[in-house]
Amino acid sequence: MLNHHVKLKPAKIFIFGAGGDLTQRKLLPALYNLYLDHLLPENFAIVGLDIKEMSDTAFRAHIREGVESFSRRPPSEDSWTTFAPHLSYRKADFTQDKTYADLAKLLSGKEGWEADAAHIFYLAIPPTFIETIAQHLSKARLMHDPARSRLVIEKPFGHDLDSARELNKMLTHDFDEAQIFRIDHYLGKETVQNILAFRFANAVFEPLWDRRYIDHIQITVAESIGVEHRGSYYDHAGALRDMIQNHLLQILCLVAMEPPVSFQADEVRNKKVEVLRAVRPIPTEQVHQFAVRGQYAPGWIHSEHVPAYNAEQDVAPDSRTETFAALKLYLDNWRWQGIPFYLRTGKRLPSRVSQVVIVFQPPPNQPFPALAVENWRPNRLVINIQPEESISFGFQAKRPGPYMHLSTVDMRFSYQEAFQAEPPEAYETLLLDVILGDATLFMRADQVEQAWSLLMPVLDVWESLPPSDFPNYAAGTWGPEAANNLIARDGRSWYTPTGEDEGAEDKPPPGKS
Ligand code: BG6
Repeated sequence: MLNHHVKLKPAKIFIFGAGGDLTQRKLLPALYNLYLDHLLPENFAIVGLDIKEMSDTAFRAHIREGVESFSRRPPSEDSWTTFAPHLSYRKADFTQDKTYADLAKLLSGKEGWEADAAHIFYLAIPPTFIETIAQHLSKARLMHDPARSRLVIEKPFGHDLDSARELNKMLTHDFDEAQIFRIDHYLGKETVQNILAFRFANAVFEPLWDRRYIDHIQITVAESIGVEHRGSYYDHAGALRDMIQNHLLQILCLVAMEPPVSFQADEVRNKKVEVLRAVRPIPTEQVHQFAVRGQYAPGWIHSEHVPAYNAEQDVAPDSRTETFAALKLYLDNWRWQGIPFYLRTGKRLPSRVSQVVIVFQPPPNQPFPALAVENWRPNRLVINIQPEESISFGFQAKRPGPYMHLSTVDMRFSYQEAFQAEPPEAYETLLLDVILGDATLFMRADQVEQAWSLLMPVLDVWESLPPSDFPNYAAGTWGPEAANNLIARDGRSWYTPTGEDEGAEDKPPPGKS
């Protein structure tokens, strides 16, 4: 996070995989927006590296196209003219020593701003290259100064616990943990960071934030898109690896963590990893009671007919990969003992929505007549992460009129209405933090391993027992029936973005069952 008094040190940013989608759609538009906001150092250079031949001019034109299509602000002639000269491109074979010897020459500048520039190596490449590039960087001593050199790694970080451990072992053998920035772009989202502000900058919520007042918590990250052009990656990953291992578990950490003593990177990360350590292991023989998987069949989304997952490009026709996953987790600690956390994510659901719903317990006594509480709902705090960026609190109010009739009403905070400013993209926040060397919003090795470790029983059981009912939900619906049953068995129901509940009824107020 930027401290107002910090003067940014110069930086040289090397992007491995500069010809790819991530660079064009996310990284360069983010860097351009930081530039527009005067949040890049006065002196900086961005060097794209990739296997194909490209001139600096062609690279700049390619990036400009990306900025035009994907930046939250279009390029203006003036600012583009001053930004573009900071970009250059080098053809590079990531497996060859020569590539790194060339880089070493580039970085040997001992004069002017280059003498104390930070060196940032951003791996925007498929995971199979991580090890090769990291080993070459180490061998060429390009990362030898922990104070100035950083390595940024995109997800997926490993495919399971063993592979993540291997990768961590290799990286931490060659580099300091403080040099490794493992990205989870959800942590860069304003609304995700606001969970910390909401919980710890206000005195009124924290006393209610535990097993005494909360009934359960739901975390939903729903997408209406399918796998688009990423079938070959996704078909080997699935929803549990692609979304739950990282994004949903990170949100869970922010919702459930203890208050940090400070916002030092390791203090916040220690508190988060404690949450993951508290997650009760799911016994192998009970996986079916705690986890649900699904795969989409053809269906309708926003009046458009969409194909089944197994008919998507680069997906095996007999694919067993899950495009939907739901989990019930318990945390064995003082604050959360006995409180279920329900997590769900899926592709081709009816709408794109990410939200956390905190459902409070009913009042201990209900003095109202049965008719008054016909529409009774428990108090609910809904943290909308995207696309709507808001927080609302649902409570009961008396409907106007001669009778005592209660209805649920909302108190609502909307980012846009309150601040009337467009929030930065997640990658802007994260890239700025990399330049600053602030790792608070990045995943530490132990977090990544702990997250894998708690999912391993589910991954193992799912792999050894192929699903017999795939595809089991129509595109445009909220996932398989089993996901409703997962929560309905406990007498609860999913909260949908429209505010309606699906499946089972909410618990009735006390005394009315
Ligand atoms: C990525 C996943 O990490 O997150 C994608 O690999 C998913 O499958 C994406 O679509 C969702 O990100 P966002 O920011 O659009 O919610």
